[in-house]
Amino acid sequence: MSQRSKYELVMRLALERGFFMPSSEIYGDAPAGFWDYGPLGVSLKNRFIELWRRELVKRDDMLEIDGAQILSKSVFKASGHLESFVDPIAKCSKCRAIYRLDKLIEEKTGIHVPERASLEDMKKIIEEHGIRCGRCGGELTDFSHFNMMFRIGVGVAELDAYLRPETCQSIFIDFMRIYKTMRRKLPFAIAQVGKSFRNEISPRQGLLRMREFYQAEIEVFFNPKKANVFAKADPILDYKLRLQPIGEDSVKDISCRDALNSGLISSKLVAYYLALIQQFYEKAGIPREKIRLRELDEDERAFYAAEAWDLEVETSLGWIELVACNNRGEHDLGGHEKLSGQEMTVLDDGERVLPNVFELSMGIDRSLYCILENSLHLVNDRIVLKLPPYLAPIQAAVLPLLSREPFTDEAMSVYRSLKQDFDVVYDESGSIGRRYARYDEVGVPMDITIDHQTLEDKTVTIRFRDSTIQLRVRESDLRNFLRDHLKVG
Ligand code: GLY
Repeated sequence: MSQRSKYELVMRLALERGFFMPSSEIYGDAPAGFWDYGPLGVSLKNRFIELWRRELVKRDDMLEIDGAQILSKSVFKASGHLESFVDPIAKCSKCRAIYRLDKLIEEKTGIHVPERASLEDMKKIIEEHGIRCGRCGGELTDFSHFNMMFRIGVGVAELDAYLRPETCQSIFIDFMRIYKTMRRKLPFAIAQVGKSFRNEISPRQGLLRMREFYQAEIEVFFNPKKANVFAKADPILDYKLRLQPIGEDSVKDISCRDALNSGLISSKLVAYYLALIQQFYEKAGIPREKIRLRELDEDERAFYAAEAWDLEVETSLGWIELVACNNRGEHDLGGHEKLSGQEMTVLDDGERVLPNVFELSMGIDRSLYCILENSLHLVNDRIVLKLPPYLAPIQAAVLPLLSREPFTDEAMSVYRSLKQDFDVVYDESGSIGRRYARYDEVGVPMDITIDHQTLEDKTVTIRFRDSTIQLRVRESDLRNFLRDHLKVG
């Protein structure tokens, strides 16, 4: 299977089986970069979020909040997004086509333009290389910065406000109230799942670059003097990270301990959270050799980051960034304290400190794409989606061997007894082989077949998706059997 066709297979499966689809697709004026999740996509997304809660939020005793999506202009003045959350653009003087300059330069010349390069520098490269409009050959003009936030007017007075471009700003502005009401001490983390919005110039590749998307963000608040006094990290010191530090062009499999001793990672706190996030993706079914934590150099980092590692996963489209792991230092609490006047310092063992922030900022939609692509296998030319059982949208299919009584009655009774506690489906249409294939394609980890023997001794056939092995289980044991097989390993 060619790499390109793997992307196409995922997209076709998503559309044909109801994982996700372009939003407003029945209208010609549907803007790009908006997607709807169908029933199987919602279920996969919910299971992914549950895994995130289990393996990160609960494991690390984090607190979870759910903030508003529309935030005041002041929030983004203090955070720096009003000034700095911008992409460089230029227009064609003839056909008015708009180009994102850094991407255009990279595409035409292979030159990597640092995120912080000035418009002047980019204009110079455009002129030196004679880059013109790709559509009509016109000269490029109107070099400017485009702010990627969606501005909206609130109420009749149309008060300026913005759809949040990252979920974490609510965590920063709510920090002091949560710190007090939940009686926490440093270090501790606040997490949030929700939608963010970015007015991307060229959204593309399905769930990979969207204008409205889900994030799961974790912000860890800590005393910078104590980032290395972090006993929680001790149990993971021998765990091997897949690190690609600045200046290296390959990945090192290196223990947290060795990475700390050789100075590749700045602190035990950072090592611990990088280990947690890598372990999470291994649990989500991504093989470790397809994961890397790539350190970003200064001109690749977001404007608020003093240190940054991207967790990336290798796909048919190349390495895709799934989690930005940023040391945001004092940037956010400091900025909000200054503009709002709200005190943001706390007492830590008698010392008054402005907490620093280390974040794990995860893109959920692109993570789901990578999980789908990685799980998709062709077996005898048909798709088998080998999702980890605990991520499967449908947990089991209940299938009468023949579509007549008494098989159908018995199967319906098994289905009814399971459906309140499990996500199961009942299906009697088509041959049993076709039905197995139908459910393999959407990742159902096992089928429960009601056959001749069921009618004699109340046992069912369990047929496993990946091995196709079949075994018999008593109807009365089915609940425990399913629970065992759907447990997170
Ligand atoms: N909060 C970091 C990001 O959205 O990339």
